[in-house]
Parts: sequence; C-alpha cells; structure tokens
Amino acid sequence: MKVKNINISFEEYAEGEQLPISDSGLLKEAKQAVNNSYAPYSEFNVGAALLLENGVVVKGSNQENAAYPLGLCAERVAVFHANSAYPKLKIIAIAITAKAQHFVTQSPITPCGACRQVMAETENRQNHPIRIIMNGQEGVTQIVDGIENLLPLSFKGEKLKKTK
Ligand code: THU
Repeated sequence: MKVKNINISFEEYAEGEQLPISDSGLLKEAKQAVNNSYAPYSEFNVGAALLLENGVVVKGSNQENAAYPLGLCAERVAVFHANSAYPKLKIIAIAITAKAQHFVTQSPITPCGACRQVMAETENRQNHPIRIIMNGQEGVTQIVDGIENLLPLSFKGEKLKKTK
C-alpha cells in the first residue's frame, strides 16, 4: 500500500487587493448577474460570468423552483448556456459570487460538486483549463487555474470506454 498526495494550488487575494484586471472585470459581470438570480426559497442569490475565447461574456444566475431539486446553480446555467450557444468556443475563465438576502457573504463562493463535475467535463471537451475566480461580498478572493484544483480524481468520460 502506498499513500499518495495530490497538490492543489490557488491564489488568494486580500479584500481590496488588486486582482489581475481581466479577473476583476469578470467578477464585476458576475456581481451584475446576481441581480437576475431567482432564489425565493434559499434567499441566496448567486451570479456567475464566464469569458469565452473570443472575448464574449456569458452570465448565469441560480434559478430555483418550488420543487426544490429542480433548481440549478448559477455556474451550470452559465456553462450550459455557453456550451449550447457557442459550442465551438473555449471557456477561458468563470467568476462566481453571491449575495445572501439576510446576511453578508464573507468568504468565497466555491462551486458545488455537481458544478465542478460539469466544469471538468467542459475542460476535457475543450482541452483547456478554466480559471475559476471565487468571491463573496466581503473577504478574500480565491482563484484556481483549472478544475483539477477543485475536483481532483474526477470521473471522466474516457473511463466509460471499454478496453479489452
Ligand atoms: N448555488 C449556486 O448557484 N452556486 C453555488 O456555487 C452554490 C449554491 C445556489 C443553489 C441554490 O439556489 C442556492 O445557491 C442555495 O444553495
């Protein structure tokens, strides 16, 4: 038996510290996307904005439903929209933030497991890592370069291929 380790890394920027300009621009778009969130049940409004390789920004926000499990996270709304409207364009980066209706979000909004798996599929499909910029209303901003840093050992389509 061997114990193996996986090294993940992320950048962390203090509140108010200047982010790389394209990251702060995308975060601004994610903050705007929060305004289109439909979250009457959780009262937790999430916004995501992603940057395509041609410079187009696609936004998404969480969309809830009275039948709770039917709701969809902001990240998947944005990624699925981008993949369906611009199937040939790579997703370079995605910024995520949230505003709760009854408290201030003080730490970065990190994507749920399902959204990580969807981002992993997109990275595989486009053969290019996605930069993921995560932020709350206050506190630090964390950034990873590639979903491997959020979802190591992920399930990939190639595992479905039969080999003799
Ligand atoms: N949510 C997102 O949209 N993205 C995340 O990264 C975390 C959670 C949504 C799902 C649900 O509408 C609400 O936030 C509370 O979980």
